[in-house]
Amino acid sequence: MSTAVLGLQWGDEGKGKITHLLAREAEMVVRFNGGPNAGHTVIDRGVKFGTHLIPAGAFYPGTLSVLAGGMVVDLDVLTTEIAEIGAHIGEEPKLLIAENAHLILPYHRILEEVEGSGAHFGTTRRGIAPAYRDRAAKVGVRAGDLLRPDVLEARIAHRLGLLHRLWPESEAIQELTASKLASELVATAEPLLGSIGDATSAIDAALSSGGHVLFEGAQGALLDVDHGTYPYVTSSPTTFAGLGNSIGIPNPEVPRRIGILKAYTTRVGAGPFPTEMDEALGNELRERGGEFGVTTGRPRRCGWLDLVAIRHTLRVNGATEMALTKLDTLCGLDEIRLCTAYELCGERTQRFPLSADILEACDPIYETLPGWSETFGEAKELEDLPQAARDFVGRVEVLTGTPVGIVSIGPAPEETIHRNL
Ligand code: IMP
Repeated sequence: MSTAVLGLQWGDEGKGKITHLLAREAEMVVRFNGGPNAGHTVIDRGVKFGTHLIPAGAFYPGTLSVLAGGMVVDLDVLTTEIAEIGAHIGEEPKLLIAENAHLILPYHRILEEVEGSGAHFGTTRRGIAPAYRDRAAKVGVRAGDLLRPDVLEARIAHRLGLLHRLWPESEAIQELTASKLASELVATAEPLLGSIGDATSAIDAALSSGGHVLFEGAQGALLDVDHGTYPYVTSSPTTFAGLGNSIGIPNPEVPRRIGILKAYTTRVGAGPFPTEMDEALGNELRERGGEFGVTTGRPRRCGWLDLVAIRHTLRVNGATEMALTKLDTLCGLDEIRLCTAYELCGERTQRFPLSADILEACDPIYETLPGWSETFGEAKELEDLPQAARDFVGRVEVLTGTPVGIVSIGPAPEETIHRNL
């Protein structure tokens, strides 16, 4: 049965651990959005990795890892990850890079600096928005272009010509030349050229033969370019709604769609955050939960679980169940809050607004649950957890109308409770 793993918040929900666990059973793992802005923490046989681009299938020899057409790929980052994981598993990970996936070039990263967009939105400064913008403006460079160096160089020359005219004062841009960029790209890509191809047909064949394909989402639904807290979002669709377009298969048959939900909320970068905690509690949770960005090291802003947002993100993902992560981080709190509605202009509302300025004006309405003082030890079943923790899980299920199939109570793969739904 094919499965999708999808973030329900602003990223950093713990998708890396869950994807890595589920990838063990998959024949193909497909990452379908974003680029090296993502940071997935994975513990594989006791070794901790922070991956950015490579799908979790790479940890399992023989499993095909696909970087789908909806992604933006930085070849330097990818090459480093292949080498690190290859050394760990003892062989080269099996990869397929969609010929229509876009490449991040050095000028994309430079543009975030010179335009100041990185600072304004608090982006990861990995060149994500400029690369997706080039895709939409039809001046992008794609993985398939690497197979035809003359086309590659001509496309870079066209884009660079425009940039040289637009940014006369930027030395970093002026000193770039198409021939140098193209030859550097070709040299880096050389070992990967045999892995560039038709991802749509490969995914289609795997799905049609009933194989287990795992779709690995990056970021979270609240960062979705259409359905998130625009403009404080990333530049790609991050939800199941965007998956079909990325892989080129309409309405793919994926019966298990797991929305990943951290037991509290975090966000990095700018933008409204109705359930953000006060500084003291936010600092405490950040330290307990190790809430610092895998990609940028930035401290994450912390807040209570926001079920108004989650009901919205469950819907855009068509999620069939949830995986609740980092429940252990809440151990020892006297009480735990759940945001069940917003107050907007004196009215109570359940609707999640899609504009950042309206969300900014929303005040959270909370339900307060008792906390628990015990830690979870080696709990294997939900029944092994303190009653108040089980009540918390049950309340989240009731208020979202969605079952929790997996509860994660620590970073290691063994610290996971699987429930039969
Ligand atoms: P960009 O994706 O680098 O353009 O950044 C846009 C917004 O998305 C910023 O607020 C980033 O912090 C956020 N963001 C992008 N990727 C991730 C992620 O994987 N986890 C958490 N936040 C992310």
